[in-house]
Parts: sequence; C-alpha cells; structure tokens
Amino acid sequence: MAADKKVETTGVLGWIDQRFPLTSTYKAHLSEYYAPKNFNFWYFFGSLALLVLVIQIVTGIFLVMHYKPDAAKAFQSVEYIMRDVPWGWLVRYMHSTGASMFFVVVYLHMMRGLLYGSYRKPRELIWIFGVAIFLCLMAEAFFGYLLPWGQMSYWGAQVIVNLFSAIPVIGPDLAIWIRGDYVVSDATLNRFFSFHVIAIPLVLLGLVAAHLVALHEVGSNNPDGVEIKEKKDANGKPLDGIPFHPYYTVHDILGVGVFLMVFSAIVFFAPEMGGYFLEYNNFIPADPLKTPAHIAPVWYFTPFYSILRAITFPFLGLDAKFWGVVAMGGAVVILFFLPWLDKSPVKSIRYRPAMHKWIYAVFVINFIVLGYLGVKPPSDVGQIVSQIGTLYYFLFFLAMPWWSKLGTFKPVPDRVVFQPH
Ligand code: HEM
Repeated sequence: MAADKKVETTGVLGWIDQRFPLTSTYKAHLSEYYAPKNFNFWYFFGSLALLVLVIQIVTGIFLVMHYKPDAAKAFQSVEYIMRDVPWGWLVRYMHSTGASMFFVVVYLHMMRGLLYGSYRKPRELIWIFGVAIFLCLMAEAFFGYLLPWGQMSYWGAQVIVNLFSAIPVIGPDLAIWIRGDYVVSDATLNRFFSFHVIAIPLVLLGLVAAHLVALHEVGSNNPDGVEIKEKKDANGKPLDGIPFHPYYTVHDILGVGVFLMVFSAIVFFAPEMGGYFLEYNNFIPADPLKTPAHIAPVWYFTPFYSILRAITFPFLGLDAKFWGVVAMGGAVVILFFLPWLDKSPVKSIRYRPAMHKWIYAVFVINFIVLGYLGVKPPSDVGQIVSQIGTLYYFLFFLAMPWWSKLGTFKPVPDRVVFQPH
C-alpha cells in the first residue's frame, strides 16, 4: 500500500516517505495543522509542560546513574551527587526545581482550561486524559519524594501511607502491603524507586501521547471558545487558523525563553525556594525513631492536604480520618466530571456573566488559601477556614449544573476576536 502512495517528495525523503509516514505526519501535525490565531499567554503552558517533562526525564536519567535506592545509602548518595559528581548539584537542583515547576505549569494549564471551557464538547477526552496525567504527576512526585531518604521524605511517606489504613476492613493490611513492611523501610524505598523511575513515567508518557492525539483530532479551543473548524475557506482551511509551524513553534519559543529565565534564576539562586521546593527537614537523614514536630507535604499537595485535615468529625460510624481521605480523593476525582457539570451556554469566561467571573476568582483564591493552610501547623482558626474552603471547593463543582446557567450571557462572535500588534 505504501509503495503505490502518491508521494511528492524525492531523494532520501522520498525513499523514507514510501516506507514511513514522515512528511504526511509533519504536515498533519505541524505545517498543515491549523491552530486558532488568537492564542494568548495561557496557551504557553502546554508546550512548557512538555519541556518540563523532558527536563525531568533527562535529569532523572543522570541522577539514577549515581543514586542508590538503599535505606543505608540513599541519603549519602544524594549528598555525593551534590558534592562530588561533576555538575551533580546542577542536575539534582534542576530535577527538584523541575518537580515544583511542573506543578506551577500544570496548575496554570488547568486554570486555562477552566477559563475558556476547554474541557467542553468535543474536548472531554483531552480533559479526562489531563486529569489522569495530573493524578500520575501526584503519584510520581509522592514516590520521588521518598528517594532522598531525609526526615521529611520518611515521615511524609509514613503519614500518607497510613491514610490507607483508615479504609474499613482492608485498610490496615493494605497499608502494610503498600509499604512491604510494618513501617516505611528499605522495602518501601525499593518499590517507590521502581514506581518513580519506570512504572509511572511509562504511564505518564502514554497519557501525554493520548492527550495530544485527542487534541489534534478535534483541534485546540481558544480564548473566545469559538470553533474555528466551523468557518473554512474554499480549500477547507479554517479562516481563523494559522499553521502550527512556523507560527506557534516560534511563539512557543518566547514562552520557553521566559520560562528558562525563571527556572534558571531558581536553580542558581534559590533552589530551596525558602523551604517550599526543598524542605529544611529533608537535609536531615531519615530517623525512624524521631518524628519531626511539624510534618507538611510539599506546597503542590497542600490544598488537598487541607481538605483532608478539614474533616474532623466521624460520620455513619466511620472515623474522621476515613472521610478526610474520601474528601481528599474526591477533590481530584470530581475534576473528571467537569465536562458534564458545566451547563453554561458559552464556553469562554469572556462571554459569561460577571457573577461567573467572581465565582471563578473566589475559587482560585480559595484554592490558594487552602494551600497556605496546608503548609501551616493545625490551628483552631485554620481548621474553620479550611472547612469553609472545602465546602466552597465542592460546592463550586457540585452546584455548577445550577449556577453555570445563571445570569445574562454576552453574544459569542462568529469569528475569533484578534487584533494583530
Ligand atoms: C504532563 C502534563 C501535560 C502536558 C505535557 C500537556 C500538554 C498539552 C499541550 C502541548 C497542549 C496544547 C497546547 C496548549 O493548549 O497549551 C495541551 C492542551 C490541553 N491540555 Fe494539557 N498537558 C498536560 C497536562 C494537562 C492536565 C493536567 C490537564 C487538565 C486536567 C490538561 C488539559 C488540557 C486541555 C483541556 C487542553 C486543550 C486546551 C485548549 O484547546 O484550549 N492538560 N496539553
């Protein structure tokens, strides 16, 4: 079949094209893939997430060359990387900064989806793959955090694995099964290493591929939420589309440039980021006999950690810890249903009533407040605020079928709004 395909290319490229869909793939996904011409700042974060993914894989490969997944050697091997391996400090700081920056980029990427209704029909699967990616990223970060075998690695893992023991009947055995021991130990470190280095990255890469295949099947949304495929010229090209290459490849380089400046500034001048990217307690080797006074997860988990801590009362005969775990899990799982919860007649926030903008603004502030509270030790005021915050978080989603229809919507234009500058 490939041999009688009509190929315009000649020479080496022609030879390849007869045997492999190189030129046709290049055209379909780059030079003749039409993306809306009105992308803005928010559209940088998809390509930036890809960049951070590559940074994490490449630096991870080099770290594994020197790291030892052994409870007796892990902490020392990281110190060895930092002090003795040529450029090891750079590789390690790039990887630790990359972990936090991955979440910065992905949270902004998800925020964009929320603002412009990018999860709505026909992009539900792009979103679902995205939420699955988000779950994988959380698992990846959690498993990776145990590897340096510092105090926070050890006790953080202890606290989180213990949460599983709150599940009725099977909980305690499940926690032992996950750890491979009665406490976090060498067996736990070995399996977390295996998950962090191979199992989760494989799933992650597969999901990212599926995410992009789904995206290219339906095409990108844009800040106006207008479907550009509905208005085509005589050649069948969307009137408001421009070829991804060279326009968006060049455009994305701007995002990459700015991102790398911020990334390098952190790596070279503030890799610990005041204890937010690398926690102080993690510079102390793990000590199973000495629990740190205050155990807090890394910043990107803290909004969900606050939701866990907000549930302080038993219900239906099951204890508060169990419901905390349910709420924390539910806070992520509910994202899968977003495409069907939003009943607004328009996609983009641009054409929604002012009230919707307020609801979104409070949602973002609330998420940040929950994140802040999750870093702090528990307090009476903090508990009440996180309970209100948890309620708002869930109401935002659960009441969405109702509030998303309310108010006066602005008319959506036929074509995208774009002023060249
Ligand atoms: C490793 C993580 C991820 C990578 C590498 C990635 C990559 C990308 C890329 C390259 C795009 C196209 C460019 C853009 O629209 O910015 C995109 C679009 C999109 N992504 Fe992701 N993504 C990731 C995670 C997520 C997550 C966690 C979600 C949501 C939960 C998500 C939801 C979406 C949606 C809805 C679109 C379509 C946006 C639109 O057309 O307006 N992605 N992604």
